[in-house]
Amino acid sequence: MSAKKRFRPLWVILHWLMALLVFITFAIGLTSLTRTSNAGGKLVPLAVHMFLGIAIFMIVIARFILRALVFKPARRAAQASTLFAKKPAMLDQLNVYVHPLLYLFTALMALLGIAIALPANLLTTIVSGAPLPVTFDIYPARAWHGSLSLILLLLVAQHVLVAVFHQFIKGENFLGRMWFTKQ
Ligand code: HEM
Repeated sequence: MSAKKRFRPLWVILHWLMALLVFITFAIGLTSLTRTSNAGGKLVPLAVHMFLGIAIFMIVIARFILRALVFKPARRAAQASTLFAKKPAMLDQLNVYVHPLLYLFTALMALLGIAIALPANLLTTIVSGAPLPVTFDIYPARAWHGSLSLILLLLVAQHVLVAVFHQFIKGENFLGRMWFTKQ
């Protein structure tokens, strides 16, 4: 596969770093934050969740700027070949919507998290170790943060399924494009 058909190393790094951080942030949200009382033991997972969430937001912005100004990611190699000459699978047809929505919903999740943290004064609470508010449910952004997390989960699922479909079912070197290898 030629270099032009693969992604640049910086793009590869940002992609996998973001995938990892979103996975960890989600996992902390679902296992340590959902339906657990706001006791002292929640402070550390919440602090890590917030820190990673803010890092994700910065990566989304960086990727958006890089994509718009510096370089456009490589077009899929197979588009130029006969592989996709036939009608693409429905999963593929969704990509054109899912890719921008992944940016949008990841950024929205982080912004909604910040919209809980600011009125709840969470940054000060975490630094000082003061007690957390009894519940976050009084903040309108809390319900949105929870609901949108389900939509983001569906978007990520489509994204992963497309990769699995091309890599393992169609036998294409799909993931190779999003890695540093030369072939
Ligand atoms: C893309 C980034 C993020 C993802 C994927 C994410 C995901 C989640 C998930 C899945 C939950 C549990 C939802 C539920 O129980 O309904 C949650 C809860 C929460 N998140 Fe995030 N989050 C992100 C960013 C942030 C940020 C940046 C902050 C704050 C600065 C934040 C603060 C919170 C808070 C305060 C809760 C509620 C905890 C509770 O109710 O006990 N999140 N998040």
